[in-house]
Amino acid sequence: MARLIGLTIVSLFLSPVFSSPVDTSIYDPTLIRRDSVPEGYESPPYYPAPPGGWLSDWAPAYAKAYEVVSNMTLAEKVNLTTGTGIFMGPCVGQTGSALRFGIPSICLMDAPLGIRNTDHNTAFPAGITVGATFDKDLMYARGVALGEEARGKGVNVLMGPVVGPIGRKPRGGRNWEGFGADPSLQAIGAAQTVKGMQSTGVIATLKHFIGNEQEMYRMSSVIQRGYSSNIDDRTLHELYLWPFAEGVRAGVGSVMTAYNDVNGSACSQNSKLLNGVLKDELGFQGFVMTDWLAQIGGVSSALAGLDMAMPGDGAVPLFGDAYWGSELSKSVLNGTVPVDRLNDMVTRIVATWYKFGQDKDFPSPNFSSNTDTSKGLLYPGAVFSPIGVVNQFVDVQDDHKTVARAVARDAITLLKNENNTLPLKRNDSLKIFGTDAGTNPDGINSCADRGCNKGVLTMGWGSGTSKLPYLNTPQDAIANASSNAEFFITDNFPSDVTAKPADVAIVFINADSGENYITVEGNPGDRTVAGLHAWHNGDDLVKAAASKFSKVVVVVHTVGPIILEDWIDLPSVKSVVFAHLPGQEAGGSLVDVLFGDYSPSGHLPYTIPRSESQYPSSVNLINQPFGQIQDTFTEGLYIDYRHFQNANITPRYPFGHGLSYTTFNITEPTISVITPLQSQYPPTRPAKGPTPTYDNSTPAASEVAWPKDFNRVWRYLYPYLDDPAAATSTGSYPYPAGYTTVPQPAPRAGGAEGGNPALWDVAFSVRIKVSNTGARPGRAVAQLYVELPSSLGVDTPRLQLRQFEKTKTLAPGESAVLTMELTRKDLSVWDVEVQDWKAPVNGQGVKIWVGESVADLRVMCEVGGECTDI
Ligand code: BGC
Repeated sequence: MARLIGLTIVSLFLSPVFSSPVDTSIYDPTLIRRDSVPEGYESPPYYPAPPGGWLSDWAPAYAKAYEVVSNMTLAEKVNLTTGTGIFMGPCVGQTGSALRFGIPSICLMDAPLGIRNTDHNTAFPAGITVGATFDKDLMYARGVALGEEARGKGVNVLMGPVVGPIGRKPRGGRNWEGFGADPSLQAIGAAQTVKGMQSTGVIATLKHFIGNEQEMYRMSSVIQRGYSSNIDDRTLHELYLWPFAEGVRAGVGSVMTAYNDVNGSACSQNSKLLNGVLKDELGFQGFVMTDWLAQIGGVSSALAGLDMAMPGDGAVPLFGDAYWGSELSKSVLNGTVPVDRLNDMVTRIVATWYKFGQDKDFPSPNFSSNTDTSKGLLYPGAVFSPIGVVNQFVDVQDDHKTVARAVARDAITLLKNENNTLPLKRNDSLKIFGTDAGTNPDGINSCADRGCNKGVLTMGWGSGTSKLPYLNTPQDAIANASSNAEFFITDNFPSDVTAKPADVAIVFINADSGENYITVEGNPGDRTVAGLHAWHNGDDLVKAAASKFSKVVVVVHTVGPIILEDWIDLPSVKSVVFAHLPGQEAGGSLVDVLFGDYSPSGHLPYTIPRSESQYPSSVNLINQPFGQIQDTFTEGLYIDYRHFQNANITPRYPFGHGLSYTTFNITEPTISVITPLQSQYPPTRPAKGPTPTYDNSTPAASEVAWPKDFNRVWRYLYPYLDDPAAATSTGSYPYPAGYTTVPQPAPRAGGAEGGNPALWDVAFSVRIKVSNTGARPGRAVAQLYVELPSSLGVDTPRLQLRQFEKTKTLAPGESAVLTMELTRKDLSVWDVEVQDWKAPVNGQGVKIWVGESVADLRVMCEVGGECTDI
């Protein structure tokens, strides 16, 4: 309900460009303030939308789509582009169908970490936890498991993974849904997840495109337009677009736009971003959908490259109005939206459906995200809705808990461990403090979309969550593993607790955040209340335990960095463990590490500063209730560790840091040239292949007449018109500046999915030897950072992660050789003048560093020169 109310209130959109005249006089126009975008941050027009289908990989799917789309009526085409309306079906969103061709209503569900709002599913660890594993195989395995569960429930489109936000703002509410504050870590996490999900025939969605770095004021409302993320071209390419490019290269089937504007133009109708960057430069062949109720104009969004409106509703949801649906039918009939644009929209959707084989044996939804009872309203948004069986309670978990536990365990990041306090012995005398060790006393799924912070923090809140099928708490798991544990499940340190010299106190604290439509303990998504400190006075709990016990272990469940300074240097705080957001396997995964059955092998997917003021002030949250927030990314490329290095600030713990119970050496670096970088810019891109050619004449108005004896569901969104003939009269439409139907020249940086394929030529291969030099088995992560030469002529962060590999478990004394490949793109900067990626010829002057964190580098290779141990 909170979701419904939240979305309803914030969705009373005002739009600068409407598909049909809308009476805005009901709103107070003085409140529609829109501050101007600072100079230099433009979003130039880019029209027309480039049609999909020009890549050979997609050609068979496009050929099949052509066969059906060329026989569709206008009503069938529009039906597939528009959601049926919020709460108008079992899934969080669904399109209409084209049943004559066997194309069902396409079901879309959230699932960055598990299928949302259903049952008998796995609640996997969150994206940030996955990033902390630095384990490509686990990233892929979790993607496969998510895909299998979606397919088992009849979900066609899974709306994940998340690569935007990237984590520019440490307090940002949804950073935990993605993989960490680095473009390559996000990119590799996303590509592995996409490949895993789509291997099961489910369509993955990269979201949110782009610049959605804070939750507050993300959406437009009656009093305010969503904020504008003002991003310069180079920063866009080298940071924010990078993971989207790799996800497109991995073959992702859909992309969701963000709520906010970029450079003053709403992402859902930003022609430069959708037509220009995503579809032309990145060669994206799938379909673009809106975020929920993010559409603010009908014709404008169609022309700018949007293909699917979700959940379909117009400015005010649940009233049966839409920007598309029957309005799109009208604007095609009256010639405002070119027929070829509609054909491309539908073809992209149908081709994607074929590409992943959803025409064969794909189950229909067997669940309802609206209710957990067996019978319920088929269209709850309609109020007067038929009732039927909506939940079949299909168990899709298989043995995915094994993957969930492995990810949660291998993400656990040991920040500090004095005197080998960890691992614990099973008979150590343990005193455990903090509600974060226990369960939610109200029930493990008692808060909708996890909109509360009670008990162990398994995930943040919002749409990126799922219900827990069960919860293995740290309390349960420690009680099971230890013969000598006493629990104080409270955040107030008990006055009567006695401490014996041999006792080990384990203090559990957490920090939560989530999505803006729910406010938790005063936090509107972003972390506004406790800032970067632990919630529930966690610092005080640690300090109290530290004053009484001589051995304290702090376990942190968190959405992102927290400030540890109040207690990290206290003599009794011996060990600190970040368990991130572990999902349902919180307890078992932690116990695996605490008692030494496994060595910790997670690494920080972000930097932990000493104080919040160590970040650039431009990454603070912006809280401004009137006017359009101008959030200008003035720090450019310098976020997270790029900033700390550039500003010469030593943080508390650097990006990539993570200890083990053993130690590792990285030695014997070698580098080989694979494809010489003979030119600064990549070789000429391949030309575009052919795209489907339809008869683009205006369809007959009768194609969108209501079918005879049609049984309408009240407020459901249909493509039909009461008086189709009246829709054919043409008027004048205020086309956006720069609108044209003449195709743009193919961008030189494009040529295949992700961009010019030569960008992925492997330039160098780097080999290193990793040896376990300690006394316990463990897994090591080798992180490869590139240092680009000043000869590129632009100011560039000193070190940038571009690759990583993780060893299998190495026994004491055992070694492994790891190979990491660097592509042309990995060594390039975005040349804003030439509009292409520029690398040093032959990699001249590039230095390649490998280490266990950005501040713990062990070997270095100079391209064309020596490799050395440091
Ligand atoms: C979120 C999306 C989500 C959608 C559907 C929006 O509020 O921003 O990430 O996919 O809702 O639930």
